[in-house]
Amino acid sequence: MIESGKTFVVMGLLDADSIAYAIGKLLESFGGKVIYTVQNERMKKIFFDRSKKLEADEKASLDIRFCDITKDEEVEALFQGIEGSVAGVVHSIAYSNPKTSLGEEFHTDAYEDLTNGFRISAVSLATVARYAQPKMTEGGGIVALTFSSQLAFAFYNWMGVNKAALEAVVRGLARRHGKEGIRVNAVSAGPVFTIAAKHIPGFEELGSTWAKSSPLNWDPMTAQGEVAGAAAFLLGPYSKQITGQTIHVDGGASAVGGELMDYERA
Ligand SMILES: NC(=O)c1ccc[n+]([C@@H]2O[C@H](COP(=O)([O-])OP(=O)(O)OC[C@H]3O[C@@H](n4cnc5c(N)ncnc54)[C@H](O)[C@@H]3O)[C@@H](O)[C@H]2O)c1
Repeated sequence: MIESGKTFVVMGLLDADSIAYAIGKLLESFGGKVIYTVQNERMKKIFFDRSKKLEADEKASLDIRFCDITKDEEVEALFQGIEGSVAGVVHSIAYSNPKTSLGEEFHTDAYEDLTNGFRISAVSLATVARYAQPKMTEGGGIVALTFSSQLAFAFYNWMGVNKAALEAVVRGLARRHGKEGIRVNAVSAGPVFTIAAKHIPGFEELGSTWAKSSPLNWDPMTAQGEVAGAAAFLLGPYSKQITGQTIHVDGGASAVGGELMDYERA
């Protein structure tokens, strides 16, 4: 699915349930060399503390670097510090203050929080592409993770706005980096029960919406692998003429109207 031996940068590790981790492990299983990033030293410690299901030798084998995506100099240093060329980058990063930007009330006057969430969740993809590009000398793929932004969901509020912006950034970057053979796409995943998701107020209700409407019986507990498969496809040679797209990996929920009838279920 990807070219074996190539280097991939997978950004946004928090614990072993992170979508980033599932993508990285899949790329490694196909022979990719994976460099993971965490936000800072503290987050690396959190990753090791929380990822109890990982064996010590697996933890020791991971190439984990630091990169706060809001600091241009860290993003630049990350890519400059990589030996050889980079074939693909995964942006699996998002943040919105759950107290002010998510939840039962859409309205807020926490404008700084909104700006910060927008910067981390949408604008940062452009920062990544800007500094990754000089290392992507043979072209390649950049993949971001998004969530169904064409509809307004309960609780998801301003993150929905950020995701709509992220998808627009994907299209802008696809246009900008086509001449360098760099493809930029997004995977729009259905709900996955990761730590970030658990911090979204009402996320369980959101997850249950999928259970009612997904023709393929989307399972939020085990979906990381399905998302990873699509990301690997978008990073590899089989997607060479795909760019600027948002591909839905959500059990088909985004394609149907209303809940499934009993007779439509397996
Ligand atoms: N879990 C879901 O249901 C779901 C569904 C669709 C899309 N997504 C998207 O997938 C991506 C990964 O989410 P996840 O569910 O694996 O959660 P996660 O918490 O494991 O990943 C989010 C990551 O963003 C990182 N991050 C936040 N601010 C940062 C900063 N300033 N610099 C660097 N890193 C920063 C966090 O440290 C964390 O590693 C996100 O973009 C998320 O919106 C998740």
